Amino acid sequence: MIVVTGATGALNGATVEHLLGRVSPHRIGVSVRDPAKAQHFADRGVRVRRGSYEDPAALLDSFEGADQVLLVSSNDFAADQDTLHRTAIAIAVRAGARRILYTSHQNADPSSPFAAAPHHAAAEAALTDSGVAWTSLRNGFYAHSLDWLLGPWQETGVIAAPADGPVSWTDRADAAEAAAVILAANETCDETRNKTGTKTSDQTSDQTSDKAGDQTSDKAGGETGNEAGDDTGDQAGDEAFEGPLTLTASAAVTFDDIAWIASDVTGREVRRIVIGDEEWVAAQIERGTPEGVARVLLGFFQAARRGDFAESDPALAKLLGREPRTVRDLIQDRVAG
Ligand SMILES: NC(=O)c1ccc[n+]([C@@H]2O[C@H](COP(=O)([O-])OP(=O)(O)OC[C@H]3O[C@@H](n4cnc5c(N)ncnc54)[C@H](OP(=O)(O)O)[C@@H]3O)[C@@H](O)[C@H]2O)c1
Repeated sequence: MIVVTGATGALNGATVEHLLGRVSPHRIGVSVRDPAKAQHFADRGVRVRRGSYEDPAALLDSFEGADQVLLVSSNDFAADQDTLHRTAIAIAVRAGARRILYTSHQNADPSSPFAAAPHHAAAEAALTDSGVAWTSLRNGFYAHSLDWLLGPWQETGVIAAPADGPVSWTDRADAAEAAAVILAANETCDETRNKTGTKTSDQTSDQTSDKAGDQTSDKAGGETGNEAGDDTGDQAGDEAFEGPLTLTASAAVTFDDIAWIASDVTGREVRRIVIGDEEWVAAQIERGTPEGVARVLLGFFQAARRGDFAESDPALAKLLGREPRTVRDLIQDRVAG
């Protein structure tokens, strides 16, 4: 069984939608803080259980029978994210998961000025220590973040922001689909193993051998095969996706590039103006943004200038079997309204 946390959120909710097209619903479970918000999944045969990183007992119950667990990264900067992630990983191990997947971020570098990066690095360190096979889905920066980072350029014709750097802006829906492709491919491997009794590389690895044995025997007795057809996870091929996997759009662009794209799409000049960091923070505060939030956002620009988000990786296109969406696609959508 695949258990997905954060399924009431945008990213992992979309992953569950994609999974439903690839895996039989009774092989999918969601672990959510508010089951009422996941009724639409329960109605389609998905197992819905309450689970929260703050409640280990409920989390363990929601992970019952999971071969794979997809852990959402906490979105709460006021919380002790490192402890929450460590708890979730430990509970997934205790539940007997053979593989843990985690929604990380491109270039999860502990020294990055981007506020989320050290927490993702800490989660990946905890995964390394877990003794279970893991995949860290290092998603690129969500492209829709440009809606606020670019400012009101459609009204002003100006993109006024601090100095930046190339970023491989990534569509969240594409990242969600890729996660489903990987989960479904692993699930198909499990099915094959159950039917044939052959060992996979996971089963023979030092990391997973004991738990894998227990899990597969339980599953073979209790659940039926994949009714979603044979096309599951084709794009994932035989790759196991061990450790960090960077999932980004196919190219990185700067705000200069985006001004050019916006000019091209709208047919009127959109100018890029670089403003100083502190001047920009002051302008955000004046507009009502709390200073702490403005400084977190400034961290994005500082990290982009270091090239933290400059890498683009072909893995996402390969998993999707098509080109990921681009910034031009986003700008066209926004201009179309
Ligand atoms: N790559 C990027 O550019 C980027 C940008 C922003 C965020 N992110 C990260 O990507 C993650 C997913 O993005 P998203 O757009 O799907 O965010 P989202 O819509 O805010 O969803 C976050 C999900 O995490 C769940 N959650 C939060 N804290 C939890 C906890 N302590 N225990 C269990 N579940 C918890 C939430 O549950 P509820 O529904 O109950 O609230 C929600 O379902 C975010 O959480 C964040 O870490 C990445």
